[in-house]
Amino acid sequence: MKNIFGCPVCKEALFAEGKTYKCKSGHCFDISKEGYVNLLLSSKSTDFSGDDKEMVRARTSFLDGGYYEPLRQSLSSLIQKYAPENPAILDAGCGEGYYTSAYSALSDSTFGIDISKSAVKHAAKRCKDAHFAIASVYHLPVLDSSADVIVNCFSPNAPEEFSRVMKPGGHLFYVVPAPRHLWELKSILYDVPYENEEKTEEYGGFELLGVESVKSEFTLTSGDDIMSLFHMTPYTWNTPKDGAERLKGTQTLSVTADFRIHIYRKKA
Ligand SMILES: C[S@@+](CC[C@H](N)C(=O)[O-])C[C@H]1O[C@@H](n2cnc3c(N)ncnc32)[C@H](O)[C@@H]1O
Ligand SMILES: [Zn+2]
Repeated sequence: MKNIFGCPVCKEALFAEGKTYKCKSGHCFDISKEGYVNLLLSSKSTDFSGDDKEMVRARTSFLDGGYYEPLRQSLSSLIQKYAPENPAILDAGCGEGYYTSAYSALSDSTFGIDISKSAVKHAAKRCKDAHFAIASVYHLPVLDSSADVIVNCFSPNAPEEFSRVMKPGGHLFYVVPAPRHLWELKSILYDVPYENEEKTEEYGGFELLGVESVKSEFTLTSGDDIMSLFHMTPYTWNTPKDGAERLKGTQTLSVTADFRIHIYRKKA
């Protein structure tokens, strides 16, 4: 196992020693009983804390239904296609670990970070073969040039930090929704549903290799599954009341999931 976690205080490498991670300057971080470590230096109640318990529960309930399995398989295949043997993989904004658990079957050096304690706790319980930390993508507690692969799936993007921690020649897989992702759900929620913007961006230090589309259709046959999907999307925050009411009355919904995986290579 290649450790890529670095000390958030002095940036030196961290070493697991019993129930703690330590750096050579003596900074020490406890490993929780679930197996994760908190590497966020500040956690004031006013700080942004990511997905809450309820969103994590909804996400797990939905993802465990297997509806996004095509995306998970595509990401695993891309890692196998582009990365070296037993790569150091960082799932940046890993959420509750559904995707991370698949990557950990490919490498014993699989790491997940997320700013949400509820999410990381769940991920560490779900997946014993990966290493999880509470941290922000904007200040990764990760060593320079240490990751072969970074996956960012529907999480905040931090290309400069990703470039810092990526090995030259390493790959970034950045997943965003296609214009009509979850269109049928949005058509119930909004009088005039909006399309997501289709765009590709260039990031300094990275070369864009291409964009892979992953599209699938599935039918949700219970109100609970439909509400779980709703509660794990950002629409939860900006849906008008009448739209949310319409969804509550829906018991069956056929939905199109449509993702774009943007594939980047770190320049040498
Ligand atoms: C839409 S969820 C995606 C989670 C996971 N990748 C998935 O697809 O199931 C976005 C995640 O980003 C996390 N997040 C938000 N801001 C963050 C930040 N600054 N640093 C790290 N994670 C963050 C949230 O807590 C949440 O788990
Ligand atoms: Zn230190």
